[in-house]
Amino acid sequence: MSSSPRRVHLAAHFPGVNNTTIWSDPRSESHIAVDSFIHMAQTAERGLMDFLFLAEGLRLREMNGKICDLDVMGRPDTLTVLSAVAAATERIGLAGTLTATFHEPYELARQFATLDHLSGGRAAWNVVTSPDAFTGENFRRGGYLPYPRRYQRAEDFIDAARQLWESWPASAQDADETAGAYEHHSEFFDISGRFDVPRSPQVHPVIFQAGDSDSGREFAAGSADVIFTRHSELEDGKAFYKDTKGRLAKYGRAEDDLRIYPGVSYVLGDTDADAAERAREQAYAQHSGATAIATLERVWNTDLSSFDPDGPLPDFDPVLDGPEVSQGRVKHVKDPVATAQRWREIAQAENLSIHDLVVREAPGVAFVGSADTVARQMNQYIQERAADGFILIPTVVPGGLDEFVDSVVPRLQEMGVYPDSYAEEDPTLRTTMELGGYRPATEWSRARSTARAAATNGQEA
Ligand SMILES: Cc1cc2nc3c(=O)[nH]c(=O)nc-3n(C[C@H](O)[C@H](O)[C@H](O)COP(=O)(O)O)c2cc1C
Repeated sequence: MSSSPRRVHLAAHFPGVNNTTIWSDPRSESHIAVDSFIHMAQTAERGLMDFLFLAEGLRLREMNGKICDLDVMGRPDTLTVLSAVAAATERIGLAGTLTATFHEPYELARQFATLDHLSGGRAAWNVVTSPDAFTGENFRRGGYLPYPRRYQRAEDFIDAARQLWESWPASAQDADETAGAYEHHSEFFDISGRFDVPRSPQVHPVIFQAGDSDSGREFAAGSADVIFTRHSELEDGKAFYKDTKGRLAKYGRAEDDLRIYPGVSYVLGDTDADAAERAREQAYAQHSGATAIATLERVWNTDLSSFDPDGPLPDFDPVLDGPEVSQGRVKHVKDPVATAQRWREIAQAENLSIHDLVVREAPGVAFVGSADTVARQMNQYIQERAADGFILIPTVVPGGLDEFVDSVVPRLQEMGVYPDSYAEEDPTLRTTMELGGYRPATEWSRARSTARAAATNGQEA
């Protein structure tokens, strides 16, 4: 007996400060002007996507003590941008990344409840646990929380925020003098008072998380609705999907209660061969010689500006004990010495310069091909449980998504795995994402306590 196919979900990433964004493309426009954000959000909405996603960086990146000006620099405030987008759109969800490390629950709960009201229930919060003391200097706290404690704070933060979001009765008309009253006394937050924003349409905005470690995955399973991940290759995606979904049952959750959306890039062409050629050109447009050197510097953790991008790789190992040369950027290379060794071996075996090696080793474009090929491949990921949806990362702002919406979306619709309209009964993001209603704060925390007690008993037995 064959069951009906799982549907494909799509969302749009407003590309930011990474070298994958080709700001030198003649079609590229402002990354700050409101029109750019609105253009991309309206395109995503035309493509019936779930949400527009904004990442966050709270300090200008530096390289070797200087501003890193090879990529797009500067990023306006997420919630302000999303409020502007809310006014120019009707259905697209508004997903903003904000750190639980430096902000306070009352402050963020209030801002997200407001966004949820302004947008008629379209707010989502990507909870990140910002990694560095460099960013923290902006918040008077430097690197005040060691790495494992950041997830503990984030979990406590969401519990507090959820309590605030629930603190008003379902209808503001029913408000009595208990409206907004809350108390949250915990290790990280000792707060009480009255929350001043009435209950918003979704009550809890959709909660995303983006960490990849074991603690990050556990945090997602116990506290989040969605994971934004870099696992965008089919087999790796399946392994990640299985691992994270396998953590849900102990928290009393089902497979579809946590959605996995890899961030994916794509290159389209009239034919597969045409797309492959465009992908090759794009890789060199994304990586100038100077960008290739900077990529190496992040692995070697030392100044390599005297190296020729067209020459060989350094023959020494990365510096492990020196200060970080790259500041303000999430570190994705876990073992620099092993990476450097592997890169040297590849470069030697294939006779590659630094520039060629960096292009070869750049995270692959997940989907390259004609619209038909890309639609079929995306569907395969969904049916084989390598993802529940995709966050598309265009390379050109703001028009890079249009081509996808005009060519791939109709193919997915013809295949019967993508809707022809947004759900009519309810405009909230939870409904668009098929997530169901919010789960009360007490249920989240009770489920985590039960899971932890069971784990402790298991260890003792
Ligand atoms: C795909 C992905 C996207 C992320 N985006 C952001 C971001 O926009 N802003 C930020 O401050 N941190 C971001 N992070 C950092 C995470 O919140 C986290 O601090 C970091 O990955 C370390 O946690 P981990 O060891 O569990 O991965 C991102 C991480 C991943 C994996």
